Amino acid sequence: MTRRAVRGRLLTFLRAPAGAGDEASYRYFEDGIIAVEDGRIGAIGRAADLSARCSDAAIDHYPDALILPGLIDTHIHFPQTQVIASYGAQLLEWLEKYTFVEERKYADAEFAARQAEFFLDELARNGTTTACCYGSVHPQAAEALFAAAQSRGAGIIAGAAIMDRNGPQPLLDGAKDAIAATRDLIRRWHGKGRQRYAVTPRFAVTSTDAQLAAAGALLAEFPGVYMQTHLAENDDEIATVRRLFPNDPNYTSVYQRAGLLGPRSLLGHCLHLDDAEVALLRDAGAVAVFCPTSNLFIGSGLFDHDRLARAGVRIALATDVGGGTSYSMLSTAAEAYKVMQLQGQNLSALAAFDLMTRGNAAALGLEREIGVLAPGAYADLVVLDGRATPAMAHRMAIVGGLEEELFVLMTVGDDRAVRQTYIKGEPALTHRPAPPIP
Ligand code: GUN
Ligand code: ZN
Repeated sequence: MTRRAVRGRLLTFLRAPAGAGDEASYRYFEDGIIAVEDGRIGAIGRAADLSARCSDAAIDHYPDALILPGLIDTHIHFPQTQVIASYGAQLLEWLEKYTFVEERKYADAEFAARQAEFFLDELARNGTTTACCYGSVHPQAAEALFAAAQSRGAGIIAGAAIMDRNGPQPLLDGAKDAIAATRDLIRRWHGKGRQRYAVTPRFAVTSTDAQLAAAGALLAEFPGVYMQTHLAENDDEIATVRRLFPNDPNYTSVYQRAGLLGPRSLLGHCLHLDDAEVALLRDAGAVAVFCPTSNLFIGSGLFDHDRLARAGVRIALATDVGGGTSYSMLSTAAEAYKVMQLQGQNLSALAAFDLMTRGNAAALGLEREIGVLAPGAYADLVVLDGRATPAMAHRMAIVGGLEEELFVLMTVGDDRAVRQTYIKGEPALTHRPAPPIP
């Protein structure tokens, strides 16, 4: 039975747009309705055609807003909500000086549980309904994040970071039990409700060969589990990996040899890869995750989107908070556009919105479930208001069509443009935010 319906201007992508103007890549309803049934989309179509089916439903009507599938963030750090905006360091110093210091606090499960509420509130405020989340090394913190997501009906992909060297001792204390703890978390959370697990070796710098191999063995033991890590973000990081793994021809081969590369592998950054490494990613069907605000903020480099795309590497888009500077996938798309402009490349508004929704879902192999407005998919939605600020409304007054509207939304829009977010058909922005964390 349809108890709730959401009405407005609906937009959903059918495939990756070939470029600007590719109208066959999406479906658009000027006045459409999404009928929600048991948290999923029961039907979608023109309001005129579906009004009988929705006659008993409470209809949330947004006459001017654009309603899309909820946005998907494919790389974000749960323990870095208070690392965001940390001044003046490149990757390795930034990790030592800010990130590792902050992540130690997540040993405290109560602290982690409070932070999880803030984190999930913030995602919802930004219209993000699914995220791939790195945890701290503490299993209890990952547990708290999964439990918080589960209680909201939200699905996350997450994992406790594993590291056994080159970090502060308190983060390495649990190293000898990290694989067993990960196995336990997989059993507890992977496939429970909407939750999925990602085995999360932080990066090659902080794991021994033995730990990476053990992580790879876990992937073989639990098919369907994801893997997330960082790859080729920064020159000093790459030089360190070369020193630590002198027998490997390159950084990517360290992960490949450990059995960590496959279609469910998400490699953050991928900025400085040689051709052999690009071929390894392509052959594995692994996903290169473009994190533009982070790459600019930490000063790591420019993601060469077109080179990877031409080589046939799968690509996703992500915020990478707290190296990244915004939770907003709209702002992230704006920075992706600028990074590509700097290299003479182009990101059309259609390609950007596809990537934030269907494209990122496809990178996760979940495009039947999320990222699309289609019967059977979860009713995870974002309602976007292109006139959310005076400057946006002023610009929007002369907008000449849907694509231009989308481009304004991604270029100057952010959390202020998110009028509502739905998770499984329920408004998520009415959730009471957790009390401020001192
Ligand atoms: N490489 C290893 N850990 C991290 C992290 O937390 N953030 C970023 N941006 N890169 C990393
Ligand atoms: Zn990251």
